[in-house]
Amino acid sequence: MALETQTKTVVGQFEYSDEDVNKGVAEFLRQMAEGLEKDGASMSQIPTYVTAVPNGTEKGLYMAVDLGGTNFRVCSIQLNGDTTFRLTYTKVAIPRELMVAKTAEELFAFLAKQVEIFLRTHHGEHFEAHIRRRMTMSSPEGFKDENVFRLGFTFSFPVQQLGINKGTLIRWTKGFDIPDAVGKDVCALLQTEIDKLHLPVKVAALVNDTVGTLMARSYSSPGKSGAILGAIFGTGTNGAYVEKLSNIKKPLAGEYDKSTGEMVINTEWGSFDNQLKVLPNTPWDVQLDLATPNPGIQMYEKRVSGMYLGEILRLTVIDLLKNPDVALFKDDNSSYNDWKSTTNIAEHSPIYKQWGLDTSVLSVAAADSTPELSILRQELEANLHIYAPSLEDAQAFKAIAGAIGRRAARLSAVAIAAIVLQTGKLNDPELDEPIDIGVDGSLVEHYPYFRDMIYEALRVIKGIGEEGAKRIRIGIAKDGSGVGAALIALVAARMEKSTSTADFISDLRLNAKKTDLTAVPEDSELAAGE
Ligand code: BGC
Repeated sequence: MALETQTKTVVGQFEYSDEDVNKGVAEFLRQMAEGLEKDGASMSQIPTYVTAVPNGTEKGLYMAVDLGGTNFRVCSIQLNGDTTFRLTYTKVAIPRELMVAKTAEELFAFLAKQVEIFLRTHHGEHFEAHIRRRMTMSSPEGFKDENVFRLGFTFSFPVQQLGINKGTLIRWTKGFDIPDAVGKDVCALLQTEIDKLHLPVKVAALVNDTVGTLMARSYSSPGKSGAILGAIFGTGTNGAYVEKLSNIKKPLAGEYDKSTGEMVINTEWGSFDNQLKVLPNTPWDVQLDLATPNPGIQMYEKRVSGMYLGEILRLTVIDLLKNPDVALFKDDNSSYNDWKSTTNIAEHSPIYKQWGLDTSVLSVAAADSTPELSILRQELEANLHIYAPSLEDAQAFKAIAGAIGRRAARLSAVAIAAIVLQTGKLNDPELDEPIDIGVDGSLVEHYPYFRDMIYEALRVIKGIGEEGAKRIRIGIAKDGSGVGAALIALVAARMEKSTSTADFISDLRLNAKKTDLTAVPEDSELAAGE
C-alpha cells in the first residue's frame, strides 16, 4: 500500500470527532458526579481541605519541594512582609531506579538529601546557626519552633488527603512504582527522612500540583474573581477546581471551614473513564497500556499527557516499519532523497526502545512548516538516528505525530469543558469577566497550537459554543506548583487560628497586583514584586 494511503488510515484512527468530544463531556460530567458521591470511583474527586490564607504580612523563610514526575525541585521563599517575596530554587532529575525502588525509604531519603544540599547551598548561614544551636542546646525539646522552616510539599500523585499536612498515597502514576509506599502518609515518609538528617524543616502542607497551580493563578490572574481551574498538561495530566460544598455528597473526614460554601477538589482526571466507555482506543493505545506498570489505570492520562504521546507515536511507527508493504523509512520510496544516500535506521535508534521517543519530537514535527520538512528530517537524523529520511517519510511521520497531538488537545478540551459546565459560570448573570483557567506543563507550553486546538474543540461543545469559548481564558500559570505550595506552606502555620477560604482567595488576589507569579525565570533566583 502506498505510504500516503497507509498514513491516512493511521491518521483516521486517531481522529476524535466533534460528536466524540460531546459524548466525552457528557460522560466526564457523569463521572465527576460519581466521584463526588463515593470513594473508589474512576475519578477520585479528592477534597483538599485547603482553608487557611496568607494576608501578605507574613515574614520569614518558607520552603517548598515538588515531586512531580521527571524532576524534583526544592525552593525557598523569603517573605518580606509587604506582599513581596524572593524565590530561590534548584532542580534535580529523579534517577530512574528510584522511581521503582524497593522501599519508600530509598526515594524519600534521596528527597531529604536534596533538601539538605539546598539548605547548605542557599541558606548556609541559617543552617549553620541551626547546627550550632543544636550542639549548644541544653533543653531536651531541641530547637525552637520559630527557627524551623515550614515546608510545602507538592506531591503530584493521587493522595487521599486527610488534613493539610497528612495524606496517604492511593496509587503511583507516571512510571513510578514503589508498592511499599502505597497507603502510607507521604508527609510522614518525608518528615522521617528529614529528621534522620536533623534538618530544621517541618513538612507543613501537602499539595497536589494542580492545587498549587490553581492557587498561583488565582493569586496572579487579572480581574476580580479567582481562577476556577488549575490544570497540568505535562508529564501527567490532572485538574483541581473550586466545587460547591453542597455538591460534595461523600463524607468529608477532616476538619474544614464551611463559610465559603466551596472547596477545592483534586479531580485526578488522569483516571477518567478507565472503563473505556467513551475514550478512543487504537491498537497502539492498547499496546502502550499493557506495557506500563499500571495497566487499565490512568487511561485518559495515557492518551493525553507528555509521558505517553511519544510512545504512542513510536508504537505506531514500529507497526508501519514491520509491514513489508509500507514504504516508511525504506529507500524504495525515497524519490526526493539525495540520490547517493540510502535511508536507514541505526540499530541503536531510540525508535526501537520502549519510551525511546520523547514527546518533544511531536512538537518539532508540529512546528516544522518548511516545504522540505528539513527541520524534522534533521531531528530524525540527529536524535532518532534515522538517516536520510525522504520528504515522504517526514510527511508521514508529521501527519501521524500531528494526529496524536491533536487528539490529545481535543481530549484536553473535554476535561476543561466539563469543569466549566460543572461550575455553572457560563450562566452566572453576575459574572462580567472571563472565566479564568490556569494551566502549566510541557504540552501547553511547548506543543505548537495546543491551546488553539483546545479552543477549536471548545467551540463545538454543547453548552459552550462560539460565545462560551470566547469567555474562557486559559492562561499559563508557570511553576504554579512550586509557588502554590509555598503559598500554602506559609499559611499552614495559621491553620490553628480560624481563617476562611474566602479570605485566602481574596488576599491572594489582592497581593497579585504587586507580585507577578506568572513568570519564573530559568535561573535559580529571582525577586518577585520588588
Ligand atoms: C497524577 C496527578 C498529577 C498529574 C500532573 C498525574 O499522574 O496522578 O496527581 O496532578 O499527574 O502532574
